[in-house]
Amino acid sequence: MLRITVFPDERALAKQEAGRVAAALAAKPDLVLGLPTGRTPVRLYHELGLLGAHGQVDFSRATTFNLDEFLGIPWSHPGSYRAFMEQHLFSRVNIAAERIHFLDGAALDPDAECRRYDAAVESAGGIDLQLVGIGTNGHIGFNEPARELAGRTHRVTLKASTRRSNAALFGGELASVPSEALSMGMATILHARQIVLLATGKSKARCIERLVKGPLTTKLPASFLQLHRDVELVLDQAAAEFL
Ligand code: PGA
Repeated sequence: MLRITVFPDERALAKQEAGRVAAALAAKPDLVLGLPTGRTPVRLYHELGLLGAHGQVDFSRATTFNLDEFLGIPWSHPGSYRAFMEQHLFSRVNIAAERIHFLDGAALDPDAECRRYDAAVESAGGIDLQLVGIGTNGHIGFNEPARELAGRTHRVTLKASTRRSNAALFGGELASVPSEALSMGMATILHARQIVLLATGKSKARCIERLVKGPLTTKLPASFLQLHRDVELVLDQAAAEFL
């Protein structure tokens, strides 16, 4: 069963989820966290930064793995997800740089980079708590709707809609958004011990309805979350409109 929690607004949701992450770290200081980028987690990261500034969350022994990264740009590129994470979270909490794991979009051999990443997740003991967002087309990570979904970390061609929703990171220039990315696969995500999906706003409401009420389908990659024993959907009222 998917558990569902609905908050009155994004702010309440972000505060609550920051508290969840802080509590998980207090209970297990060497927690392995899977992290998303996107507009949805920005407030959550802001709240974690505030907790960090007040010494109320301790990332010093935590390990993190981000879900995905654009292919063809280095971490130093301002549009990279690595740069996004640095700005919104990593620079604001006491995380140890050597325990931040990221796919390298500038890797010379992207397939080898994907294998390296899966091996790194394994050798960290797997992901304890995986936070994910959901695309308006039902993607998780960059696992886009398709006839088949990849199990493991892999190279993806991005859908036009996904490139459009990322244009803001590239000065609003759609043509500058990379056409490919590297992403954790569905199995990598589903092997996490606990998964929390965050969704806010009306644009996510139909996907959330299909995820909760619909069948498993590769046309809605997030529908595979139904297979996991410990998944919680954390929504604001707008995203929960059709439940
Ligand atoms: P968003 O992206 O948080 O910017 O809506 C979520 C996603 O595409 O996974």
